[in-house]
Amino acid sequence: TSSSNHKMLKAYTLAANFYSHLLLNTIEGEKALEYLEKRGFTRNEIEQYEIGWSPVQSDALSALLKRQGFDMKEMETAGLCFHKEDGSGYFDRFRGRIMFPIQDDNGATIAFSGRRLEDSSSEAKYINSPETPVFEKSKVLFNFHRARLNVRKTGKVVLFEGFMDTIAADRGGIGNTVAVMGTALSAHHIVKLKRMAKKIVICCDGDSAGWGAAKRFADQLMDSGMDVLVATLPDKMDPDDYIGQHGSDVFSEKVLDQALSYISFVAAYYRRDKNLSVDHDIKQYVHEVFDELAHRCSPIEKDLLIQQLHNETQASKESLGQEFTKSI
Ligand code: GTP
Ligand code: MN
Ligand code: MN
Ligand code: MN
Ligand code: MN
Repeated sequence: TSSSNHKMLKAYTLAANFYSHLLLNTIEGEKALEYLEKRGFTRNEIEQYEIGWSPVQSDALSALLKRQGFDMKEMETAGLCFHKEDGSGYFDRFRGRIMFPIQDDNGATIAFSGRRLEDSSSEAKYINSPETPVFEKSKVLFNFHRARLNVRKTGKVVLFEGFMDTIAADRGGIGNTVAVMGTALSAHHIVKLKRMAKKIVICCDGDSAGWGAAKRFADQLMDSGMDVLVATLPDKMDPDDYIGQHGSDVFSEKVLDQALSYISFVAAYYRRDKNLSVDHDIKQYVHEVFDELAHRCSPIEKDLLIQQLHNETQASKESLGQEFTKSI
């Protein structure tokens, strides 16, 4: 119901304030603050994004919510706490994590993503709020409410895999970026993106998972009729790493502005695991690329693609042309 949704939003706002206070003003939050500073976060930015720290103590937030008169069953549904099996009360979902609020299209906090401090720990790197009546992952794009105006102004939206990448880009003055919340791109997401801009630049992590995600996003967004470009990164780097190392101007010029057309990206995707000095790999590469692209190439794109494959594989343009025709 709407009154219960309203209470959840109030609880999330209270929790965000609580976590933010602990991070910025208490000894409890010192290690997390140091970690964030090492990663390039400024105090201003921490405040602007309302980043916080969830205490290690198991029921700190639950106790606060209870004191404030929230219905604890409702708070469990909201994903902020769990009931104890012995019925003796509630304990917090997020404990000892850096808290990143996730906001809806109006800027209201509707969920958290909590990052563990230590990179070596065996616990999950991120824990997110569960799906609730106010948080449907398939509808939420991180940073949407902040990016919206910039996207309209530039006519272009940049899509990342991780919300840390969006924060890093924003830090460097690139304000037209959003990130999926660790899920697939949904039909809802696509509608939202399409309403904002005609042109989209996908920029995923430079590892295998990132290339796979970029390929899925690109296929879906092409099907939706958007103008799709795909920016690629050096192996093992993500946008945040790249911006940290080279700065956001270089990121804009060398990564975003050099984004590949869909067709070049698909070729690069299939070339990744090939050794093009081996005949078998050449054959497989040409087949994979043509199978996927031949039917969607314009005559000029066909010429460009054949030229590219000729340069890469040394196969003659005549035989590539024949293979192309067979694949249509
Ligand atoms: P950092 O390592 O802090 O720089 O984060 P990242 O943004 O580089 O994260 P990564 O590339 O590993 O993952 C991208 C996105 O996938 C994150 O923003 C999360 O939404 C999601 N994700 C990653 N790891 C986990 C996890 O352990 N659990 C969950 N639920 N989601 C995750
Ligand atoms: Mn990754
Ligand atoms: Mn990443
Ligand atoms: Mn990262
Ligand atoms: Mn030649």
